[in-house]
Amino acid sequence: MKESAEIPSFRRRDVIKTLVFSSAALGTGWPGRAVAASPELKFGKDGVHFLAVGDFGTGNAAQKQVAERMNEFAGKLGSPLAAVLALGDNFYNHLEPARFGPGFEEMYSKEHLDVPFYACLGNHDYGPSYDSKQGRAKADMQLEYAKANPTSRWKMPAKWYAEEFSAAGKPLVKIIYLDSNNFEGALTPQEKVDQKRWLEAELKKETKAKWTWVVSHYPVFSDTTKRKDNQGLIKSWGGYFQENPISLYLSGHDHNLQHLQVEGYQPSFLVSGGGGAKLYEITDTGRGFSRPILGFNHIHVNDERILVQLIDGDGNRMHAFEKSHKGDIKILKA
Ligand SMILES: [Fe+2]
Repeated sequence: MKESAEIPSFRRRDVIKTLVFSSAALGTGWPGRAVAASPELKFGKDGVHFLAVGDFGTGNAAQKQVAERMNEFAGKLGSPLAAVLALGDNFYNHLEPARFGPGFEEMYSKEHLDVPFYACLGNHDYGPSYDSKQGRAKADMQLEYAKANPTSRWKMPAKWYAEEFSAAGKPLVKIIYLDSNNFEGALTPQEKVDQKRWLEAELKKETKAKWTWVVSHYPVFSDTTKRKDNQGLIKSWGGYFQENPISLYLSGHDHNLQHLQVEGYQPSFLVSGGGGAKLYEITDTGRGFSRPILGFNHIHVNDERILVQLIDGDGNRMHAFEKSHKGDIKILKA
């Protein structure tokens, strides 16, 4: 079926399912419970596996802890990982090229994490406000490191880009990476215009991939007490998430783990900002799961469904769900 013929019916169904899901979720109160359980590790040979982690660039013990849990998880997973989605704030504070070794290459063990890390830029990845002594922009340094070291796992081909992942030789998921750093000193006015034009063209482009996800640093919706929803992003990108069959929006920035379903919006909104920075408090808005915990996400996607597991810093599964093409959400037992 052509994409242009498929979208309208998909969109209607998805909005309806989201509404049904939202009211059901409020009734059962699933967001309020967080019971630790062992993650699912046994999967068939189909589909593609990813990990996602954000706000990890501290170099501290918490980053190390989460990095070790990610390596352990990948080691126990009976299937190969395709990639790690790195959700920004990759390096806090002063950045110099020598930090890529201890802060990335050695931090994330090649034992079981020998896969590309597709990264986007967070607010702390921009300078010179965060890197006044170096005289080189932190963002440029990360882009240059990827370019100069093509054999490194560090992948950042541009500030915004798209990658398709295939299973059994067929395109399965298209991931669109965006730069949501709209503050002074980050994206220039021209870059903002260019990115918007590129995104609109990318969303219109025909793809054989069955799923489309968007990755960026800032959450659109968030239960973080001191931040809440990002009204600027709702205004600039909200329409895209209402009108296009985007099934996941992955972000970091808020230092906690969240899965929110928001009425009228197609993606499941994931915040995976538990990579190692100081945690942020949550105010439960009844839209899903949110916890101030360290950790990362595991995502398995196949032709039929997406499975997402939120894993904490001790390796426990704190929340998990499946999502179908129609937008049905099934919360899995913790
Ligand atoms: Fe951030």
